[in-house]
Amino acid sequence: MKSEATLPHTRLTYTSLQELSLTPTFASDFITQFVTLLEYSEGLNPSHSIRVTVIAHFLGKYMKLSDGEMKELFFASMLHDIGGVSPEHHVVNKLIELPDVFGQKTDFFAFSHPYRSYSLLSTFPTFQNIAAIIFAHHEFFDGSGYPQGIKGEQIPLLARIIRIADTVDILMNIHKFSTIEELHALLGFSSEEEFGTEIYNAFLTMLKNNVSITDLLDADFINDYFFTLQKSVEDRYYFSSTETITKFFRMVATIVDNLTNLDATHSLHIEDFAARTGLLLKMTTQEIMDVRWTAYLHDIGKIANNRNIYRKKEKLTDDEWAAIKRHPITSYEYLNRIGGFDKIAYYSLYHHENYDGSGYPEGLAGERIPLVSRIMRVTDAFEAMTAERIYNRRRDWQRALKELKKYSGTQFDPIIVDMFVAYYTT
Ligand SMILES: [Fe+2]
Ligand SMILES: [Fe+2]
Ligand SMILES: [Fe+2]
Repeated sequence: MKSEATLPHTRLTYTSLQELSLTPTFASDFITQFVTLLEYSEGLNPSHSIRVTVIAHFLGKYMKLSDGEMKELFFASMLHDIGGVSPEHHVVNKLIELPDVFGQKTDFFAFSHPYRSYSLLSTFPTFQNIAAIIFAHHEFFDGSGYPQGIKGEQIPLLARIIRIADTVDILMNIHKFSTIEELHALLGFSSEEEFGTEIYNAFLTMLKNNVSITDLLDADFINDYFFTLQKSVEDRYYFSSTETITKFFRMVATIVDNLTNLDATHSLHIEDFAARTGLLLKMTTQEIMDVRWTAYLHDIGKIANNRNIYRKKEKLTDDEWAAIKRHPITSYEYLNRIGGFDKIAYYSLYHHENYDGSGYPEGLAGERIPLVSRIMRVTDAFEAMTAERIYNRRRDWQRALKELKKYSGTQFDPIIVDMFVAYYTT
């Protein structure tokens, strides 16, 4: 393999957000769409995370949190259960089955999901505080919660706010209550032990004065209110450079890979191969940034499918194949809903097109397939051929390079294959 020193001299410099034409709320838009896709199959409307975010927001506002804290509360509420999504389950359904904290503590998936959320989010250093808040979102004021059993003021205030919003939403899914008195009865005598007197009283007063139970139960009210909230969370504070945004997408890719691949590093490897290919093709800094972002995000549509199909050992049914083949379209639709992502959306749509027109979803051929998509096609295939045989990498790399050459001009762009193969051949 050639050394890094032989690469063409292209520096990855920072580009300002204005130049990228991302909207000021791109992160809240992105996370909203992401969480909605993840919770798509739960049959809850509004989604659990959206309702928790709105309830937590009302309580935070009532408690006069600062603007910075309100922003943290928004992201922490939206992402609190991100580690509670597995290919088979969503933790919300577990908690609806097991509303009692003692039952939750004996269920390993439920018990560990706050840690899992924390560990996924802390791969993005900018969200360190948010990850720490989320780690504590099932702790109880009297120390009987999980996973650590911390208590009182040891539990971050924002985690305590999310705790009550979370419990209220779970109760709303189990019982149809319509008055404060009924909710009070459902929360029971243990409510102060769970939330602490200060938060619990603030919540009840807020319900009497600021927002009615009827509104909180109304899906249209929640969805409308949430939309306004989503559009008010400007995020320059967190996402101040393209490198930060890239790290954020790396975290997103890790979550997507965990749910859709046997190997949780699929997109991270593609990013590496694809960015190097971009350098070999003498792409500009901006174009390489597009390549990197597309590498991280192209498969995001996969999470909307029944996620068990990605690990299925038996032959897939026709319907399952059709669902898999739909993922570039879902990725496109998802990314296109976020301001400033039309290019990445378009590149993702075509990442399974073959050079000879035999790919999907549209059967585009040759130069009509965007260059970034053609790079994805080659590097994605190469990654898939080499990833699972990591202990015997070198020999398998040679075999994978041969496969690229074999399908050069049919599946793959021959120019990209020639460059890629020359670079990786000693
Ligand atoms: Fe949770
Ligand atoms: Fe939750
Ligand atoms: Fe794909």
